[in-house]
Amino acid sequence: MSEQEIPGYTYGAEAVAKSPVSLEDFDLLKKTVLFTEDDEKYLRLAGEVLADQVDEVLDLWYGFVGSHPHLVHYFSNLQGEPDSDYLTAVRKRFGQWILDTCNRTYDQDWLNYQHEIGLRHYRTKKNQTDGVQSVPIINYRYLITFIYPITATIKPFLEKKGHRADEVEKMHQAWFKSLVLQVTLWTNPYLRPEDY
Ligand code: HEM
Repeated sequence: MSEQEIPGYTYGAEAVAKSPVSLEDFDLLKKTVLFTEDDEKYLRLAGEVLADQVDEVLDLWYGFVGSHPHLVHYFSNLQGEPDSDYLTAVRKRFGQWILDTCNRTYDQDWLNYQHEIGLRHYRTKKNQTDGVQSVPIINYRYLITFIYPITATIKPFLEKKGHRADEVEKMHQAWFKSLVLQVTLWTNPYLRPEDY
């Protein structure tokens, strides 16, 4: 599916508001996680490695969420049952996100869409994109803790295309740094501006 055909995927669209985090502040965040041009290079390589494995990665992550009631809760309708249409709709954007994480230039458009993703996990916009009735917010504590499974479980997929162990490790570290950066951007709406 091409990105234009993914419902609710509005990367680069005018409707996406400007991120409250400036490119200068983002630069300081990059410095803080030791994110360099080398990481960009290894993310591109990860993009090549993951390109034809996106569905398998998503099967694993969805299996993880689905097998934990406290996580699938966030995809549930007001009767408390998992909303399969909601899960399916988000899955397409999640797949595109894997590719975006690896292949996009982290510029103003990218920064803006990170803010949009944050709003979609927060009260401001959760459920709106897919027009669903579900719980109003993904609690902050799970955004942070989710970094670990999304990082640990990607490694076997990075190993699958025969790259040397040191190359796999560099791809994995770059992925981890990107995740920390992104989730840091996503939590902006959760905090008072002066505390962020
Ligand atoms: C949406 C990734 C944490 C539940 C999304 C999207 C992505 C994503 C890429 C789609 C964004 C878009 O609309 O383009 C991640 C990552 C996380 C994380 C990388 C942490 C490292 C969580 C957690 C939950 C969760 C802990 C709870 C189970 C959801 C839900 C949506 C969503 C329900 C749909 C929100 C809406 O209504 O628009 N996530 N997520 N996410 N995620 Fe997460």
